[in-house]
Amino acid sequence: MSEWKMICRVDDIPVLGSRRVQRAQGMDVAVFRNDQDEVFALLDRCPHKGGPLSQGIVFGNSVACPLHNWTIALADGKVREPDAGCVQRFQVKLDKGCVHLSPAELASIGLEWTAPVAGPQKRDLPAAEDAMTATALSPLPQAGEG
Ligand code: FES
Repeated sequence: MSEWKMICRVDDIPVLGSRRVQRAQGMDVAVFRNDQDEVFALLDRCPHKGGPLSQGIVFGNSVACPLHNWTIALADGKVREPDAGCVQRFQVKLDKGCVHLSPAELASIGLEWTAPVAGPQKRDLPAAEDAMTATALSPLPQAGEG
């Protein structure tokens, strides 16, 4: 297996934006570009409730999650205070204007996570699977209650 896999050109990633890299297994990887043309790669899953970081707002060397605005450092994946947590990070190699990721990391990092499930799909989950993706949602009140 090659040590590095070419993913895209740096110019293929919008300035202060991101691209998602699909993997054979596991959730996508979010590849970010800041306004200094630095590139970072994190698992596309916020440590709070699984929000898609690739859809967040990139500023400086951070990304703000689109769901509840937690701020995550792009370089190390650490959540900024007052919140706490960490996102799994992937090494990035830039060579001749191209972004490379490690095939070994793509095949091994963050495979334990699944995308959060909400809405009608959530009702169809078996109990065990539901427990792994459960959130603090409370049931909707039924007609006549309350
Ligand atoms: S899911 Fe990212 S801040 Fe809540």
